[in-house]
Amino acid sequence: MDQIIVRGNGPLSGEIPIAGAKNACLTLMPATLLTDQPLTLTNAPRLSDIRTMTALLQSLGAEVASLQDGQVLALSSHALTSHRADYDIVRKMRASILVLGPMLARDGRAEVSLPGGCAIGARPVDLHLRALEAMGAELDLRDGYVHARAPSGGLKGAVVDFPLVSVGATENALMAATLARGTTVLQNAAREPEIVDLARCLRAMGARIEGEGTSTITIEGTDSLHGATHPVVTDRIELGTYMLAPAICGGEVECLGGRIDLLSAFCEKLDEAGISVSETPRGLKVGRRNGIRAVNVTTKPFPGFPTDLQAQFMALMCVAEGTSVLEETIFENRFMHAPELTRMGARIEVHGGHATVTGVDGLRGAPVMATDLRASVSLILAGLAAEGQTTVSRVYHLDRGYEHVVRKLRGVGAHIERVKEE
Ligand code: UD1
Repeated sequence: MDQIIVRGNGPLSGEIPIAGAKNACLTLMPATLLTDQPLTLTNAPRLSDIRTMTALLQSLGAEVASLQDGQVLALSSHALTSHRADYDIVRKMRASILVLGPMLARDGRAEVSLPGGCAIGARPVDLHLRALEAMGAELDLRDGYVHARAPSGGLKGAVVDFPLVSVGATENALMAATLARGTTVLQNAAREPEIVDLARCLRAMGARIEGEGTSTITIEGTDSLHGATHPVVTDRIELGTYMLAPAICGGEVECLGGRIDLLSAFCEKLDEAGISVSETPRGLKVGRRNGIRAVNVTTKPFPGFPTDLQAQFMALMCVAEGTSVLEETIFENRFMHAPELTRMGARIEVHGGHATVTGVDGLRGAPVMATDLRASVSLILAGLAAEGQTTVSRVYHLDRGYEHVVRKLRGVGAHIERVKEE
């Protein structure tokens, strides 16, 4: 297994290109199952999660070609040869559940393994299932699988009122509704940029959708969808992560492709913390004004502060002046980075969904362990701010969501390398 070695160093400067969004790409890829015509995704990120989704779609009979060094994905689902998403793949990646709605809408049947728990919480899929049931699906949960069937005339439009905001459930229901008979209204829908991106792609495929980006999405079902070419939206979480690098180390970095509207709540918190963010013709320029001030953060669904940036923001708060409280409201077990940061000299106390961070003058390098995707990158950010060497192990978590992290950070002057574990 590989390790990443980071040595704390001074200010960073230069530019970092931001990739297409992992979470958008993971929902755009299953959209291929809605049509027998080709779907081409450009600006795709090169990540292990994308390879897992590729393997899943191929196991169902879809063709997926990775072109231009993985930045273009050519997908085609002429005819599905299987309707079963196997446990062996689904257990690796929760987003696998996103094949359920499209398969059911197109062919009237699907079997998908239940994803089970994951490191950051229980994460059930009941909201996905309830939405599909409202559209007439018959669901049977047995042997660890969801066995789903559409009624004989196919799924039918329905009003789905989500009791809580779920990105994945909104995506599954949105895709299924494009081929349902009649009108579907999704209420309390997720408003994330990845949902907007999915709706745009589906519309390019012939779907009739209104209201994406608001909490009510209306879909007029159609008989069939056709092929399209769609560019994947910028990864706002990768963007926010790299914006934190000069915030922590000092200096100035331009994140190419960055947009404030993707991260407005996060940018407001950076401003409060004393970090300047300005728009440039090519993206966002980030620099530190003076010292870092402690600020409180509560994670919320979009347009609130993203849970996927909480761990990285905590790394910044570890070296801020004063005490900050970070409240996690989306996932119940998402502070596993806190004990690892503590090993580097951070002062953090976790009580339930709150972490109280008292800034220290400096962190010290230490061997630490990545526990999940976003936690792993928070340890790298902390390592950049620490004196001495930090060795991050279990970096396979990182490969799920960050392409060329070493190359990108070296490009702005960071001391970071990837080595084989001895
Ligand atoms: C997506 C993102 C993930 C991000 C999360 C929240 C992808 C591939 N992943 O995950 O990176 O952290 O949004 O922004 O896009 N819930 C239920 N029942 C359900 C579904 C969800 O109770 O059926 C709960 C979850 O446990 C969680 C909350 O709803 O507490 C939000 O989860 P959700 O928005 O669905 O997250 P994902 O789509 O899994």
